Amino acid sequence: MVVQSMDDVSPSKWHLAHTTWFFETFVLEPFYPGYRCFNPAYAVLFNSYYNSVGDIYPRPDRGLLSRPTVAEVYDYREHVDAAVTVLMSRADQRTCGAIADVMTLGCHHEQQHQELILTDIKHVLSCNPLQPAYRANSEQVADVTASMGWARYEAGLVRIGAGAEGFAFDNERPRHRTYVAPFELAGRPVTNGEYIDFMEDGGYRQPGLWLSDGWNMIHERRCTMPLYWQLRDGVYHAHTLSGTRPVVRAEPVCHVSYYEADAFARWAEARLPTEAEWEIASEGATIGADLLETGALHPRPTRGGDTEPVAMLGNVWEWTSSPYTAYPGYKTAAGALGEYNGKFMSGQMVLRGGSCLTAATHIRSTYRNFFPPDARWQMTGLRLARDAR
Ligand SMILES: [Fe+2]
Repeated sequence: MVVQSMDDVSPSKWHLAHTTWFFETFVLEPFYPGYRCFNPAYAVLFNSYYNSVGDIYPRPDRGLLSRPTVAEVYDYREHVDAAVTVLMSRADQRTCGAIADVMTLGCHHEQQHQELILTDIKHVLSCNPLQPAYRANSEQVADVTASMGWARYEAGLVRIGAGAEGFAFDNERPRHRTYVAPFELAGRPVTNGEYIDFMEDGGYRQPGLWLSDGWNMIHERRCTMPLYWQLRDGVYHAHTLSGTRPVVRAEPVCHVSYYEADAFARWAEARLPTEAEWEIASEGATIGADLLETGALHPRPTRGGDTEPVAMLGNVWEWTSSPYTAYPGYKTAAGALGEYNGKFMSGQMVLRGGSCLTAATHIRSTYRNFFPPDARWQMTGLRLARDAR
């Protein structure tokens, strides 16, 4: 809970303290008169990136925080949980109305960090030559690859984005009109087996398949396969949260960067979908079977997908070809919480659909996740699209 294996990874202890700091800073301090702060020094340690709130301890150094201890972090959580409970039980109607939105945001924020805790633990454990399992899983996965069809969508002016009702992050709003040309979307995500075909066809050695930045990245980092993969006696193995095991060809490929997803799509004579294409195809998608609640902690082979897209929600996050920018009419929230999403709208790509580490109550078809194009430690895969005639 203390180890930090790279700049992007935070210790579990830090995630627990930071999500607690969020409630202390944005709920208790403004709305609880006489609230007794647990430890004023934590304000700097556990502020992630809110410059308007105060100083920030450097992200790459989070693994050096040998204090507070894990036990002290749990005490901090208990202190804040208890104060929030008191605040909510005593609050009058007006205060309840005022804190409802930020309490809801705090819960969704915590769900985001619950997924990050798992991806970060996975990275930490992968760096240990013993490659320990986070949790054993003896489930046998049938290595049967579903046949894949293409669903066709006609051209038109469509609406995407979250409506005014219900919870959504500010970056999903406003709902607006956009034009899509006719396109086809693959019925299921790309599998490990298909990705191995790309690798064995020399995909990582063909410059014509790669974006310039991607070509530089795979050479600088010597990438020849997805993150967490290795060859053992000629057999591809992958490190998972249940330890290292042979790659199952039928499973969706994951832990590929945007650059790798884009190169694969070009090799497959297709492309990545835009986020508008992805969203209109996902409308009416049922919450998939492959979310955090299954306990599998790894994407499973999909079934179906011959006629209409399956596994749009859950399974693997799907890279889109859309840069993460503001929707027309986007407005950042007032105050420090305006720093939540809007200020990251440069140099990142949009991912859609959630993963096997996402809670079912957290994901929806309008959800916009975003990561830099070279990020590989999240549960990131892809689904193909192509222009239709
Ligand atoms: Fe956060």
